[in-house]
Amino acid sequence: MTLSIIILAAGAGTRMLSDRAKVLHEVAGAPMLAHTLATARALAPGAVTLVTGHGGAEVAAAALALDPEVRIAEQTERLGTAHAVLAAGAQAPGGAIVLYADTPLVTAETLSRMRAERAAGADVVVLGFEAVDPTGYGRLILDAAGGLARIVEEKDADAAERAVTLCNSGVVAADAALLRELCAATGNDNAKGEFYLTEIVGLARDRGLTAAVVTCAEAETLGVNSRTDLAAAEAAFQERARAEALAAGVTLQAPETVHFAFDTVIGRDATVEPYVVFGPGVTVETGARIRAFTHLEDCHIATGASVGPHARLRGGAEVGNDARIGNFVEIKGSEIGEGAKIGHLTYVGDATVGDGANLGAGTVTCNYDGVSKHRTEIGERAFIGSSTMLVAPVRVGAEAMTGSGSVITMDVEDGALAIGRGRQVTKPGLARKLMARLRAAKEGR
Ligand code: UD1
Ligand code: CA
Repeated sequence: MTLSIIILAAGAGTRMLSDRAKVLHEVAGAPMLAHTLATARALAPGAVTLVTGHGGAEVAAAALALDPEVRIAEQTERLGTAHAVLAAGAQAPGGAIVLYADTPLVTAETLSRMRAERAAGADVVVLGFEAVDPTGYGRLILDAAGGLARIVEEKDADAAERAVTLCNSGVVAADAALLRELCAATGNDNAKGEFYLTEIVGLARDRGLTAAVVTCAEAETLGVNSRTDLAAAEAAFQERARAEALAAGVTLQAPETVHFAFDTVIGRDATVEPYVVFGPGVTVETGARIRAFTHLEDCHIATGASVGPHARLRGGAEVGNDARIGNFVEIKGSEIGEGAKIGHLTYVGDATVGDGANLGAGTVTCNYDGVSKHRTEIGERAFIGSSTMLVAPVRVGAEAMTGSGSVITMDVEDGALAIGRGRQVTKPGLARKLMARLRAAKEGR
């Protein structure tokens, strides 16, 4: 059976107080919209249609960049959620699921449970949750048999209905043609004067059809309307990511201090020390150790490597097996060989570092001339003396050495020692004489 997914994103998002469309605000380093699109794709649907309105061009462009297959439908007037579903246009015969782009944490697993409920015979399936504070949500009103009788919006609810804590997440599953038919039958004689998607439950029941509720945790259905909600969604995402990492055999010494991105991958038996931030695009392999206060994005850390404390990796950094990256080291766009050691206060940009090479404290690849970036190549088992400036493009051969404090501007052949610094001159007694003269000058003598 074909599945069509309709994602609603036409809301104005006024309460975000932002110049940017609401669904482009990020959770775990990716726009909310990306989370919803990824969840939709996980169900292998025949089509995904995104309904845009406010900030439509920006949202459409972002959606197409994330998922070129997504269909864009414009809701020119914002007349309510049922009207938005109709704006998505007719869908292929089969099932349909309506998602909200501002509800980014719904899981594919939950949506699969909704589909199973439909397969078991329910005509309309609504995703509900028990709210700690139901304020603002539509309430799910059950019949005596435990079926879903109708949904009442808070603004239209009486006191007894408001006391109900089983709430509507907004996510709905039904046959695509039926969904359209029911949405077309909704009216706007309600508190907001909008065509409510929620009305389709009552309409379905009036026709003798069945409606059922599938529930999930409140954290999953969290809808983002304000910056406070956005922060809550981030917190909920982080809590989930930490639990998943622990369940996958990763040691998190202080889970509540580790910040994950939407796509962080960490292998079993890896250890993450306190206060580590993962930006997008990070893979950490089995047995690697990420030490405290390290910031990682767009990088790959191989088995057994150790990174940090206080390291920063980005821009396609590749750290080889068992390499050691120490404190205050920044690595960008570079491959670090197996067992290489870069212990302290070093910048490695646009470089290749061979297996077993050792970079002394304060090594800097001078990769940028103000216009272009240039590469540095450091051979296997090379030894770079502390405070060496490697002025790229430059190559230091295998098993070569550079003297501490050298400025290396020319290639160094394999096995050679290069020293590029002024010779030391020592003047006996001159320090004391100089100090005495300076003190005398200060005291005006
Ligand atoms: C809606 C539900 C409510 C539910 C809550 C969950 C209705 C009538 N109410 O209320 O039962 O508890 O979500 O968060 O459905 N949108 C459009 N076009 C429109 C109107 C809305 O695309 O014309 C989109 C919005 O961008 C948003 C979603 O639909 O993604 C929900 O709209 P919103 O106005 O936020 O509905 P709520 O009042 O929160
Ligand atoms: Ca909402």
